[in-house]
Amino acid sequence: MVLGPIHIAIDGYSSTGKSTLAKALAKELGYLYIDSGAMYRAVTWYLIQHHIAIDQIEEVLDDIRVDFDQLQRICLNGEVVEKEIRQMEVSEKVSEVAKVAAVRKKLVEQQQGFNQSVVMDGRDIGTVVFPSAQLKLFMTASPEVRVQRRYKELQQQLSSITLEQVRANLQMRDYEDEHREVDPLKMASDAVVLDNSNLSQEEQLQWVLRLLQEKLNITV
Ligand code: DC
Repeated sequence: MVLGPIHIAIDGYSSTGKSTLAKALAKELGYLYIDSGAMYRAVTWYLIQHHIAIDQIEEVLDDIRVDFDQLQRICLNGEVVEKEIRQMEVSEKVSEVAKVAAVRKKLVEQQQGFNQSVVMDGRDIGTVVFPSAQLKLFMTASPEVRVQRRYKELQQQLSSITLEQVRANLQMRDYEDEHREVDPLKMASDAVVLDNSNLSQEEQLQWVLRLLQEKLNITV
Protein backbone atom coordinates (compact mmCIF):
# COMPACT_ATOMS: atom_id res chain seq x y z
CA MET A 1 0.00 0.00 0.00
CA VAL A 2 1.47 3.35 -1.06
CA LEU A 3 0.40 6.47 0.83
CA GLY A 4 0.56 10.04 -0.47
CA PRO A 5 1.16 11.19 -4.02
CA ILE A 6 2.83 8.73 -6.37
CA HIS A 7 5.74 10.02 -8.42
CA ILE A 8 6.64 8.15 -11.58
CA ALA A 9 9.88 9.39 -13.15
CA ILE A 10 10.64 8.64 -16.79
CA ASP A 11 14.10 9.68 -17.98
CA GLY A 12 16.17 8.95 -21.03
CA TYR A 13 17.67 10.35 -24.21
CA SER A 14 15.75 12.49 -26.72
CA SER A 15 13.23 10.74 -28.95
CA THR A 16 13.07 7.50 -27.02
CA GLY A 17 9.29 7.83 -26.70
CA LYS A 18 9.28 9.07 -23.11
CA SER A 19 6.48 11.58 -23.60
CA THR A 20 4.24 9.18 -25.50
CA LEU A 21 4.54 6.54 -22.79
CA ALA A 22 4.30 9.05 -19.93
CA LYS A 23 1.14 10.58 -21.39
CA ALA A 24 -0.55 7.21 -21.92
CA LEU A 25 0.43 6.02 -18.45
CA ALA A 26 -0.86 9.19 -16.76
CA LYS A 27 -4.15 8.84 -18.61
CA GLU A 28 -4.50 5.21 -17.62
CA LEU A 29 -3.75 5.96 -13.95
CA GLY A 30 -5.63 9.28 -13.78
CA TYR A 31 -2.44 11.10 -12.72
CA LEU A 32 -1.11 14.46 -13.82
CA TYR A 33 1.32 14.34 -16.75
CA ILE A 34 4.21 16.78 -16.89
CA ASP A 35 6.55 17.05 -19.88
CA SER A 36 9.52 18.73 -18.23
CA GLY A 37 11.33 19.07 -21.57
CA ALA A 38 8.49 21.29 -22.78
CA MET A 39 9.28 23.66 -19.90
CA TYR A 40 12.92 24.02 -21.02
CA ARG A 41 11.69 24.45 -24.58
CA ALA A 42 9.24 27.19 -23.56
CA VAL A 43 12.02 29.16 -21.85
CA THR A 44 14.09 28.76 -25.02
CA TRP A 45 11.21 29.99 -27.18
CA TYR A 46 10.92 33.10 -24.99
CA LEU A 47 14.60 33.88 -25.54
CA ILE A 48 14.33 33.40 -29.29
CA GLN A 49 11.26 35.58 -29.55
CA HIS A 50 12.77 38.37 -27.50
CA HIS A 51 16.27 38.10 -29.01
CA ILE A 52 17.87 37.47 -25.65
CA ALA A 53 21.35 35.99 -25.50
CA ILE A 54 22.08 33.00 -23.26
CA ASP A 55 24.32 35.07 -20.99
CA GLN A 56 21.42 37.44 -20.30
CA ILE A 57 18.93 34.79 -19.23
CA GLU A 58 19.20 35.49 -15.56
CA GLU A 59 18.10 39.09 -16.08
CA VAL A 60 14.79 38.02 -17.65
CA LEU A 61 14.00 34.81 -15.74
CA ASP A 62 11.44 36.53 -13.53
CA ASP A 63 9.53 37.65 -16.64
CA ILE A 64 9.13 34.07 -17.84
CA ARG A 65 6.12 32.13 -16.58
CA VAL A 66 5.84 28.58 -17.80
CA ASP A 67 2.89 26.39 -16.90
CA PHE A 68 0.29 23.98 -18.22
CA ASP A 69 -3.37 24.69 -18.97
CA GLN A 70 -6.36 22.45 -18.17
CA LEU A 71 -5.65 20.39 -21.29
CA GLN A 72 -2.05 20.04 -20.11
CA ARG A 73 -0.74 22.12 -22.98
CA ILE A 74 2.41 24.09 -22.32
CA CYS A 75 1.88 27.82 -21.84
CA LEU A 76 4.37 30.66 -21.91
CA ASN A 77 3.15 33.74 -20.05
CA GLY A 78 -0.42 32.55 -20.48
CA GLU A 79 -0.22 31.66 -24.16
CA VAL A 80 -0.30 28.09 -25.50
CA VAL A 81 3.02 27.42 -27.30
CA GLU A 82 2.76 23.67 -28.02
CA LYS A 83 3.59 24.10 -31.70
CA GLU A 84 6.22 26.79 -31.37
CA ILE A 85 8.37 24.84 -28.92
CA ARG A 86 8.69 21.85 -31.29
CA GLN A 87 10.37 23.89 -34.02
CA MET A 88 13.91 22.94 -35.07
CA GLU A 89 15.07 26.41 -34.07
CA VAL A 90 14.12 25.61 -30.47
CA SER A 91 15.60 22.08 -30.58
CA GLU A 92 18.90 23.57 -31.71
CA LYS A 93 19.12 26.01 -28.83
CA VAL A 94 17.43 24.22 -25.94
CA SER A 95 20.53 22.29 -24.77
CA GLU A 96 22.38 25.56 -24.20
CA VAL A 97 19.48 26.92 -22.19
CA ALA A 98 19.13 23.71 -20.16
CA LYS A 99 22.78 24.09 -19.07
CA VAL A 100 22.12 27.30 -17.17
CA ALA A 101 21.98 26.61 -13.43
CA ALA A 102 19.48 29.41 -12.71
CA VAL A 103 17.07 28.05 -15.34
CA ARG A 104 17.32 24.53 -13.92
CA LYS A 105 16.80 25.80 -10.38
CA LYS A 106 13.64 27.69 -11.34
CA LEU A 107 12.13 24.81 -13.32
CA VAL A 108 13.13 22.05 -10.88
CA GLU A 109 11.50 23.96 -8.00
CA GLN A 110 8.34 24.32 -10.02
CA GLN A 111 8.38 20.61 -10.96
CA GLN A 112 8.81 19.60 -7.33
CA GLY A 113 5.79 21.71 -6.41
CA PHE A 114 3.23 19.58 -8.26
CA ASN A 115 1.72 18.17 -5.11
CA GLN A 116 -0.24 15.27 -6.54
CA SER A 117 0.35 11.94 -8.21
CA VAL A 118 2.28 12.63 -11.37
CA VAL A 119 4.05 10.98 -14.27
CA MET A 120 6.91 13.26 -15.28
CA ASP A 121 9.36 12.72 -18.10
CA GLY A 122 12.72 14.38 -18.68
CA ARG A 123 16.43 13.88 -18.02
CA ASP A 124 16.85 14.42 -14.29
CA ILE A 125 13.49 13.44 -12.86
CA GLY A 126 14.63 10.28 -11.05
CA THR A 127 17.96 11.78 -10.00
CA VAL A 128 17.13 15.39 -9.05
CA VAL A 129 13.45 16.32 -9.25
CA PHE A 130 12.01 13.25 -7.50
CA PRO A 131 14.93 11.22 -6.11
CA SER A 132 12.40 9.30 -3.98
CA ALA A 133 10.03 8.53 -6.85
CA GLN A 134 8.24 5.24 -6.26
CA LEU A 135 8.94 4.15 -9.83
CA LYS A 136 11.82 5.24 -12.07
CA LEU A 137 12.17 4.24 -15.69
CA PHE A 138 15.12 4.89 -17.95
CA MET A 139 14.17 4.65 -21.61
CA THR A 140 16.48 3.78 -24.44
CA ALA A 141 16.11 2.81 -28.09
CA SER A 142 18.61 2.15 -30.84
CA PRO A 143 20.03 5.36 -32.40
CA GLU A 144 18.57 4.59 -35.82
CA VAL A 145 15.09 3.94 -34.45
CA ARG A 146 15.25 7.26 -32.61
CA VAL A 147 16.40 9.16 -35.71
CA GLN A 148 13.57 7.68 -37.78
CA ARG A 149 10.96 8.51 -35.15
CA ARG A 150 12.07 12.09 -34.83
CA TYR A 151 12.37 12.48 -38.61
CA LYS A 152 8.79 11.36 -39.12
CA GLU A 153 7.58 13.74 -36.42
CA LEU A 154 9.49 16.73 -37.79
CA GLN A 155 8.62 16.07 -41.43
CA GLN A 156 5.00 16.88 -40.68
CA GLN A 157 6.03 20.45 -39.84
CA LEU A 158 9.03 20.91 -42.09
CA SER A 159 9.09 18.81 -45.24
CA SER A 160 12.58 20.02 -46.20
CA ILE A 161 14.23 18.51 -43.13
CA THR A 162 16.80 15.80 -43.88
CA LEU A 163 17.65 12.64 -41.98
CA GLU A 164 21.18 13.96 -41.59
CA GLN A 165 19.97 17.15 -39.87
CA VAL A 166 17.84 15.12 -37.50
CA ARG A 167 20.69 12.72 -36.73
CA ALA A 168 23.12 15.58 -36.07
CA ASN A 169 20.66 17.33 -33.74
CA LEU A 170 20.00 14.16 -31.74
CA GLN A 171 23.72 13.41 -31.42
CA MET A 172 24.41 16.95 -30.30
CA ARG A 173 21.63 16.88 -27.70
CA ASP A 174 22.70 13.45 -26.37
CA TYR A 175 26.20 14.78 -25.88
CA GLU A 176 25.03 18.00 -24.24
CA ASP A 177 22.54 16.19 -22.00
CA GLU A 178 25.19 13.81 -20.70
CA HIS A 179 28.03 16.27 -20.35
CA ARG A 180 26.49 19.39 -18.85
CA GLU A 181 27.78 20.34 -15.42
CA VAL A 182 24.43 20.81 -13.69
CA ASP A 183 22.10 17.79 -13.41
CA PRO A 184 23.38 15.84 -16.42
CA LEU A 185 21.40 12.95 -17.83
CA LYS A 186 22.32 9.79 -15.99
CA MET A 187 20.41 6.75 -14.97
CA ALA A 188 19.30 6.64 -11.34
CA SER A 189 20.78 3.58 -9.62
CA ASP A 190 17.28 2.32 -8.80
CA ALA A 191 15.80 2.91 -12.28
CA VAL A 192 14.43 0.12 -14.46
CA VAL A 193 15.62 0.19 -18.09
CA LEU A 194 13.09 0.02 -20.88
CA ASP A 195 14.53 -0.47 -24.38
CA ASN A 196 11.59 0.12 -26.68
CA SER A 197 13.32 -0.28 -30.06
CA ASN A 198 11.05 -3.19 -30.89
CA LEU A 199 8.00 -2.53 -28.75
CA SER A 200 4.71 -0.95 -29.79
CA GLN A 201 3.23 1.84 -27.68
CA GLU A 202 0.61 -0.54 -26.30
CA GLU A 203 3.26 -3.14 -25.39
CA GLN A 204 5.23 -0.49 -23.50
CA LEU A 205 2.17 0.64 -21.60
CA GLN A 206 1.26 -2.91 -20.61
CA TRP A 207 4.85 -3.56 -19.54
CA VAL A 208 4.83 -0.56 -17.18
CA LEU A 209 1.41 -1.41 -15.81
CA ARG A 210 2.69 -4.90 -14.95
CA LEU A 211 5.74 -3.38 -13.29
CA LEU A 212 3.55 -1.05 -11.24
CA GLN A 213 1.52 -3.96 -10.06
CA GLU A 214 4.58 -6.02 -9.16
CA LYS A 215 6.51 -3.23 -7.46
CA LEU A 216 3.82 -1.07 -5.89
CA ASN A 217 0.70 -3.20 -6.01
CA ILE A 218 -1.02 -0.51 -8.08
CA THR A 219 -3.67 -1.73 -10.48
CA VAL A 220 -5.93 0.20 -12.82
O1 DC B 1 12.48 15.99 -23.88
P1 DC B 1 12.83 17.10 -24.88
O2 DC B 1 13.68 16.64 -26.02
O3 DC B 1 11.63 17.87 -25.33
O4 DC B 1 13.73 18.10 -24.03
C1 DC B 1 14.25 19.28 -24.59
C2 DC B 1 15.60 19.58 -23.99
O5 DC B 1 15.46 19.98 -22.63
C3 DC B 1 16.59 18.43 -24.01
O6 DC B 1 17.52 18.61 -25.05
C4 DC B 1 17.26 18.46 -22.67
C5 DC B 1 16.48 19.41 -21.82
N1 DC B 1 15.87 18.80 -20.64
C6 DC B 1 16.57 18.83 -19.47
O7 DC B 1 17.71 19.29 -19.46
N2 DC B 1 16.01 18.35 -18.33
C7 DC B 1 14.79 17.83 -18.33
N3 DC B 1 14.26 17.38 -17.19
C8 DC B 1 14.05 17.77 -19.54
C9 DC B 1 14.63 18.26 -20.69
